[in-house]
Parts: sequence; C-alpha cells; structure tokens
Amino acid sequence: MRLVTLERCQAGVQLGKPIYSENGKILLSKGTELTDSFIARLKKLNIYTVYIDDDASEGIDILESIPVKVLNEATATITEGLGTLSEFNLSKPTLQAMIRTEKAVASFQSIFKEIINCLNENRTVLNLLATTKIHENHVYTHSLNVSIYACQLAIENGLSLKAIEEIGLGALLHDLGKIFVSPDVLNKPGRLTEAEFELMKSHSELGFNILRKVHEVPLVVAHCALQHHERLDGAGYPRGLKGNEIHPYAKIMSVADVFDAVTSHRVYRPAMLPHKAMELLYAGSGTQFDTNQLNLFKNCVAIYPQGLTVKLNDGRTGIVTKYNFHSVGRPEIRIIREKDQEVTPYEIDLSRNGNLTLEIVEADALL
Ligand SMILES: [Fe+2]
Repeated sequence: MRLVTLERCQAGVQLGKPIYSENGKILLSKGTELTDSFIARLKKLNIYTVYIDDDASEGIDILESIPVKVLNEATATITEGLGTLSEFNLSKPTLQAMIRTEKAVASFQSIFKEIINCLNENRTVLNLLATTKIHENHVYTHSLNVSIYACQLAIENGLSLKAIEEIGLGALLHDLGKIFVSPDVLNKPGRLTEAEFELMKSHSELGFNILRKVHEVPLVVAHCALQHHERLDGAGYPRGLKGNEIHPYAKIMSVADVFDAVTSHRVYRPAMLPHKAMELLYAGSGTQFDTNQLNLFKNCVAIYPQGLTVKLNDGRTGIVTKYNFHSVGRPEIRIIREKDQEVTPYEIDLSRNGNLTLEIVEADALL
C-alpha cells in the first residue's frame, strides 16, 4: 500500500484503505477500483491523498496509530459535545444546559482516556494521514487530531497522567470559540481583511470565556484555549504573552495545533507533507515555538509516513516501508527504481546508511 495524491491517480487504481465520511461511515471500501467519476467526486469532497494498492507497494502495511473505530467514535462525540458547549448561555445557563454541558465534558474525558490508552499501549509514531476522511467541518477533526498530537507530546514530556488528561481536554476544546466565527471567514481563501482577522482572533477569548464558566472544566484547560496562539516572542494573541508567561500546556498545544493545521487539506490550500510542516515549525523555533517541545515532537510523529514515495541523493527512488523508533527521521525504504530504471524491489535501512539523504519526497505515485 502507498500514499498518492489524488491529482496523480488514474482510473483503475485500487484503494488500499477505505474512505470514511466525517461520521465514520465507509464511503468507498478497501479494494474499490477508482473510476474517473469517483476521482472527480473525491476531489470535490476535498480529499487530497489516498492510499492505493499496487505491485510496487505490495506487503507494505500502514500502521494505524489509533484504531479507526476509536477515531470515528471520537469525532461523533466531539461533534455533538462542541455543539452542546457552544449553546451554553454565558449569562444565564439553565439547569438543563448545565447538565448537558456536564455530560459533554464527561464524554470528552472518556474519549481521550481511550486515546491515551492507545498511545501508551503501543509505542507509536503518529501518522494521522493514515485515515482518509471527508472533512465537512474541519474544526471537529482538527480538535481531535490536535488532542492526539498533544497527548503524545505530553507523554513524551514525561508528564503525569493528570497533566496528560488536562492537555488532552485542553486540546479538544482549544478552538471552541471558532464555532462562533462565520465559516466564510474560517474558510476564506487568501488574506483576511483586518476586520475579518480580528474576528478570527477573537476565538481564543470566546472559547476561554465559555470554558472558565463551565464548572467541570479545570481553569488550566480554559487557559489552553486562551493561550494557544501566543508566541514565545510576544507577537501572538490575544495578550501578547512572552516566554515563561505562556503556560507550558499552551506551548505543547501550539506545536500540535500548527502541525495539524498545515498537514490538513483546506479548500484554499493543499496539505503540506509532514517533513515540510516540521521544517516550517523549526523556522519558528525560539520565536513562535518552544525548541524543546519541537525536539520532542519530531521524535513522535511520522515525518516520512509509511507509503510515501521518496528519492534519495544517489538517484534511487523508493517507498517508505517502516519507521525506526530510535531514528524517526530515517525510515526503512523499499527501492523500486535506480536512476529512472525499474529494478527488482529491495529494502534499505536509512538509519544504517548515514551517507544517504532524502532529496525529494512526494505523496505521489509513479503511475
Ligand atoms: Fe485556534
């Protein structure tokens, strides 16, 4: 199985993984032969990459960091729960609303308990690209993804279970305020006007103002929503906090938030591959992001996801087959071409070949 951009897919290729709707229904199952009309429909639904099965990638199994069933249940719960929280009337919450909110928070807590269990059970390298889903409302999927990345980073930090749970909840709720920002502004292609940008920025405080009044949500979780767009150099918002004025949880949150945002496809721009996203994050090391958090993060996400096509500096082309847990940035590769000539596939381990580097990396098929 390997990862290809839909742009390069031609009719006749076989899907390696199912494609799910946002509520977890299978839209196209594994093994489906893609036709021109399927490809056109998937493009319309903003699917950017798909996994396909072909001869060259036979036997490459893509690890699922979190079982699809857990992810689907989580998305459904988040969709319902964020909706409930957004209806919470700040000035005069009714008893009913308070009970509904309490239930929503409890259901969130059970979600990331399950996610933390999955992350703790098997030492994993996160590859959230592995589940292809239609994103009708990307606030929900984004919240879940950020929560998974943030929990993993919290584990990597060696934090206590209580802290990991708070970070998980903070990440799930960090963009709650976006529910009040018009989708026209949220999904606007190109630059926002000053007024639109101000509206967009208000989501941190909007979320905070709700969360700090919800009894079941610890105040530190509300601060995750408030501070996740702060930057170490003080150029963030809403308060322009600097360095250690920013809560450590918010520093974790901002790494997870930006990484997921840029590796997800949006109507107005294609997804960035993880290694490019990591370069972008490192460009903000010490100014936007905490360098220590970036160093920990790069050890727990798949910078070169399994199934990706790569070209080495010696001209060979291959597909990423396996991660090396001791050296996440240097995976095992199945070579399929040497200087544009097809060869009988063989595997090499980049962690044992220090002289080889990855030159070109594409979510691309050699179709
Ligand atoms: Fe945000």
